Amino acid sequence: MTLSTLPAPETSPFDVCVLGLGYVGLPTAAVLATRGQRVAGVDLRRDILDTINAGRIHIVEPELDALVRAAVAAGTLRAVPAPVPARTYLICVPTPITADHRPDLSFVEAAARAIVPVLGPGALVVLESTVPPGTLRDLVAPIVCGNLQGGGLVPGRDIFLAHAPERVLPGAVLREVVENERLVGGLTDACTARCAEFYEAFARGQVHRCSAEVAELTKLAENAFRDTNVAFANELANVCAHLGLDVWEVIRLANRHPRVQILRPGPGVGGHCIAVDPWFIAASAPQHTALIQAARRVNDERPARVIAQVRALAARLRKPKVACLGLAYKPDIDDLRESPALHIARALAADPDLELLLVEPHLHTSPIAGAPLVPLAEALAAADIVVVLVAHRQFRHLRPDHLLRLMVVDTVGLLNQRT
Ligand SMILES: NC(=O)c1ccc[n+]([C@@H]2O[C@H](COP(=O)([O-])OP(=O)(O)OC[C@H]3O[C@@H](n4cnc5c(N)ncnc54)[C@H](O)[C@@H]3O)[C@@H](O)[C@H]2O)c1
Repeated sequence: MTLSTLPAPETSPFDVCVLGLGYVGLPTAAVLATRGQRVAGVDLRRDILDTINAGRIHIVEPELDALVRAAVAAGTLRAVPAPVPARTYLICVPTPITADHRPDLSFVEAAARAIVPVLGPGALVVLESTVPPGTLRDLVAPIVCGNLQGGGLVPGRDIFLAHAPERVLPGAVLREVVENERLVGGLTDACTARCAEFYEAFARGQVHRCSAEVAELTKLAENAFRDTNVAFANELANVCAHLGLDVWEVIRLANRHPRVQILRPGPGVGGHCIAVDPWFIAASAPQHTALIQAARRVNDERPARVIAQVRALAARLRKPKVACLGLAYKPDIDDLRESPALHIARALAADPDLELLLVEPHLHTSPIAGAPLVPLAEALAAADIVVVLVAHRQFRHLRPDHLLRLMVVDTVGLLNQRT
């Protein structure tokens, strides 16, 4: 296929083609579709396509259902199994890590390959997925611009390529897709300008122009910064446990210093971004990321410490009942992805020397076989040991005198709320 025989995007019934209809892609597609763009959403999963085309959604995100319903009913959003010709392509596919902490870019590669047959002259291709520095230039560009049967496309002239990392917060995605400031890093200045124009048409936050590599690393730096700061708090918790001191008191007093702001320790770092993205920097510069890698290890090690602490208490009793409060990876959501709380609960559930009760107000069924989901009051009445894993709103009324009869492992400082 050469440029002259490629379909012209103008003739397509779609303006934008979004690849990957998950937590990032679907809200973005819905926002665009309700603002005058004709959007084709692509996903590999048939069930997701059917759900969306029926005007429903498969993820938990406030107000997204109404937006998708409206866009599908208006005919501006359609879910399709493969990319279609469009003026703009947004790649929003997963970028996980492998078991040995290497970036898995196979989804990005597959998405880039999938758009090649339908790519028309002048199209804009935006990589929104979080990726290691160099991914747009070294992986995506050769596929998209490369040897299209001999005739290469010139970026910035025939085709426009940019990275615009997504920085949305789950639970607030619809607002943040529009209001967040954006980074737009093109392969060339013309690519950057074209991509910035696309976002400026609907985003209210400022659009910052930079190179593709700066955009890639900046997104990763944001999450690595957060991870490293949490690791500091977690390490302090480890030190305090060793010395028999109260970490919450130490942090509360240290934070009285005008230039100190220590974050809160916890049972580990979860979710699919903060626990993953720092490894992308580490993979890009293994010899220069001692701090980032150490922080990851400190945070990854926390669940094992909590499990050991609970087991040590449990060993004092005969087959004690242990109640875990919270399973999500952070407060007030139902998301269990990479959740350290879930990891801890699973390990405790596998222990034949204790009986596990789970309290998770955001779930209707237990995610762990053999460990029943019970209401908070029931768990507190039945348990010998309480492990506070998530500071959900529903638990915040608890005070130490409610738990006098119980042994308590409070990983999130819920009972020490002066900090
Ligand atoms: N979820 C967030 O809050 C968030 C925030 C910022 C950045 N990100 C980044 O955005 C990217 C997407 O994350 P997500 O949370 O939306 O992932 P997700 O797993 O929720 O959704 C990705 C979707 O892509 C689909 N998919 C996979 N390969 C495909 C292909 N070749 N063509 C079409 N669809 C394909 C999957 O079936 C899935 O439905 C990741 O790089 C992530 O790190 C996510």
